[in-house]
Amino acid sequence: MTTTTSIDLQKAAKEHLWMHFTRMGGYETEDVPIIVRGEGCYLEDANGKRYLDALAGLFCVNIGYSFGEEVGQAALEQMRELPFYTNWSYAHPRAIELASEVASLAPGDLNRVFFCNGGSEAVESAWKLAREYYQVRGGTKVQASPREPETRHDELVAGARTPGRSYKAIARHIAYHGTTLGALSINGIPALRNPFEPLVPEVRHVSNTNRYHRPAEETEEEFTRFLLDELEQTILAMGPETVCLVHMEPVQNAGGCFTPPTGYWQGVRGLCDRYDILLSADEVITAFGRVGYWFGSERYDIRPDIVTSAKGLSSSYAAIGAVIATDRVMKPFLEATSMFAHGITFGGHPVMCAIALKNIEIMNRERIVEHVRENEQAFHDTLAQLLDLPIVGDLRGTGYFWALELVKDKDTRETFSDEECERLLRGFLSNALYDAGLVCRADDRGDPVLQISPPLVAGQREFDEIVGILGEVLTEAATLMR
Ligand SMILES: Cc1ncc(COP(=O)(O)O)c(C=O)c1O
Repeated sequence: MTTTTSIDLQKAAKEHLWMHFTRMGGYETEDVPIIVRGEGCYLEDANGKRYLDALAGLFCVNIGYSFGEEVGQAALEQMRELPFYTNWSYAHPRAIELASEVASLAPGDLNRVFFCNGGSEAVESAWKLAREYYQVRGGTKVQASPREPETRHDELVAGARTPGRSYKAIARHIAYHGTTLGALSINGIPALRNPFEPLVPEVRHVSNTNRYHRPAEETEEEFTRFLLDELEQTILAMGPETVCLVHMEPVQNAGGCFTPPTGYWQGVRGLCDRYDILLSADEVITAFGRVGYWFGSERYDIRPDIVTSAKGLSSSYAAIGAVIATDRVMKPFLEATSMFAHGITFGGHPVMCAIALKNIEIMNRERIVEHVRENEQAFHDTLAQLLDLPIVGDLRGTGYFWALELVKDKDTRETFSDEECERLLRGFLSNALYDAGLVCRADDRGDPVLQISPPLVAGQREFDEIVGILGEVLTEAATLMR
């Protein structure tokens, strides 16, 4: 069935639509893929062809595509009651209810919710919050133990420019955290950052938790120690007094589902405590069920001071994100005349909040989070069949959040060159998978991976279909690259 429209969609798309992160020149000769309908885990394009969406949109349509009627009714009722009001100096029932609901689902004393429109804005807001927190709180940050003058070089230079300010952030290599200038500055992907340099000062990046290319003899404990030592040295080099934020995902998406080694998060939390730095968990993907818990912070006992979330909050039926802060972070903002000097017109939009509330209601009713936990092992075991292929080096992830790393040589773990990646991912895999009716992501922001992250309602039938299609396409890819 094709969609009802009065215009030639293909022609109009080519003439007027500017797609995100898209080489638009490619569509002079090719057709623009136009998705017109969704149901369960499946999509349908303008030609009536069906696809299994093994990416849940962009890691975000957690309840799948079949709840439009029910969610739409909630949106309609809200439209009738109050189509818009702001969170600037005012509250309204849906924002209050959603804030309460999110606070009750978030672990520990993450009790205060600031709404925005998406993930980038959430990350942007978290950094601004951390910067302002240390000013509003006042007092001097904990002084680190005496250090060699040369390790304080950056701190001394920065201190001369912004005396007394705590404004720097630390994130991880290859991590994606959004596209607005602040969030982009936190990204650890040079190719995304370079076109827009100079960015917001100052961010340093430390190693992520990719263990696949670490020395074979290194134990998990040694790996954790290496990561924590590096983080501590970075904090010291930047000057602990000048660093306000450590911002990391519970499981890093870009680069391919890097899960934390044992003891990692406890160590990161410990360093943030020692040097008085706020720890922010970027849960734009991991919150609301993707890793089998409402929050990844709960799964890994991260105890963050701030959580950024978006996508799954509404299963992306609405454009809404949230920054969630602990009572400790909120405290100085409750005093006298202090205020978080930040706001966005649409943040906490009543219709978006009504949709997010309905999404959470559906997730509870349908036992979505439990479903992920009950099925994650089966999902893993099904995907693990692909490890028999010569081109599949590693399978990593958790919950409904997996990546397959593609390698040139399985024994040496040698990866493909840039030119080979281009040929493999963009020249072959993206089109081949799409032609075969599977939407998943071929990504080389780090080493080449296939990212698999279906709606959280998927079950064994979808797992089998994903593996069936991937098996055929990856076998062909291995032949092509030989
Ligand atoms: C971890 C993480 N943070 C932030 C963002 C940015 O979110 P948005 O695209 O909604 O601005 C993303 C988007 O994929 C993300 O994965």
